[in-house]
Amino acid sequence: MILFKKATELHKWLDFQRKKQKSIGFVPTMGALHTGHLSLIGYSQRENDITVCSVFVNPTQFNDPRDFEKYPITIEKDIAMLEEAGTHVLFLPSVPEMYPDGLQATRQYELGFLETRLEGAFRPGHFQGVCRVVHRLLEIVQPASIYLGQKDYQQCMVIRKLVTLMGKEGSISVMVCPTLRETDGLAMSSRNMRLNEDQRKKAVTISQVLTAIKQQLHTGDLSALLNEGQRVLEAAGFRTDYLEITDARTLEPVTNWNGTQSLVALVAAFMGDIRLIDNMVLTQNNTD
Ligand code: PAF
Repeated sequence: MILFKKATELHKWLDFQRKKQKSIGFVPTMGALHTGHLSLIGYSQRENDITVCSVFVNPTQFNDPRDFEKYPITIEKDIAMLEEAGTHVLFLPSVPEMYPDGLQATRQYELGFLETRLEGAFRPGHFQGVCRVVHRLLEIVQPASIYLGQKDYQQCMVIRKLVTLMGKEGSISVMVCPTLRETDGLAMSSRNMRLNEDQRKKAVTISQVLTAIKQQLHTGDLSALLNEGQRVLEAAGFRTDYLEITDARTLEPVTNWNGTQSLVALVAAFMGDIRLIDNMVLTQNNTD
């Protein structure tokens, strides 16, 4: 694995590879890697000649400074895991390398409705920070494809929109890969490392609630399903930011299902001071 810390050096090296007709797949991460990240690396490796993984804990996407301070950093282990997975390139930039002009935002990304919903509403500024860092990373790496986990459902939509805003829809494919789960159903996440034994046991409730919603889905008024889910989460000790059923393509809330619309259920909830998110696509409609 080749390690780059400087954007210009990585850019130059990748330019050379592109001239040799090598296709480049890109997996952006904030480190604290787990099997879910490795599965993204796997997708990229199968579909590209070269896989670039970035590890950068992006300060501009943390709306809560305590969350930033506590974000797990396991760089030695990350490097070993990436080596083991046969990753070609690791990009490990510093904050000044990623933000040469400082952290102050100079542009606003027009994300529209997407930014007013769910994560956008509960984490003001979060998606602007995601767009800033991913924009810069995409300019440095210029991949054919970027690989993202479905666990961050709304982030995947935001990054699709970013690629459009960059005018790169035709040249960068946004690949959304399935969420990997622990054997009890908990969605894999770097934040799971911070759960203590008791919290870890209770955390499974999130995926249980989503599965129950999927199993009990019916046409008509969905409020009883959501209220029950909310009750079960609270009984397990969660403080819920949101539990919603929405249109899978627009994130518009769906309170009354007509039986044809594609749906996704999304949840964000705190266990202690650890915020977990998850989602489940409930139904797919081919004609939709
Ligand atoms: O999903 C993440 O880990 C981050 O939001 C990303 C896409 C690497 C941007 O910092």
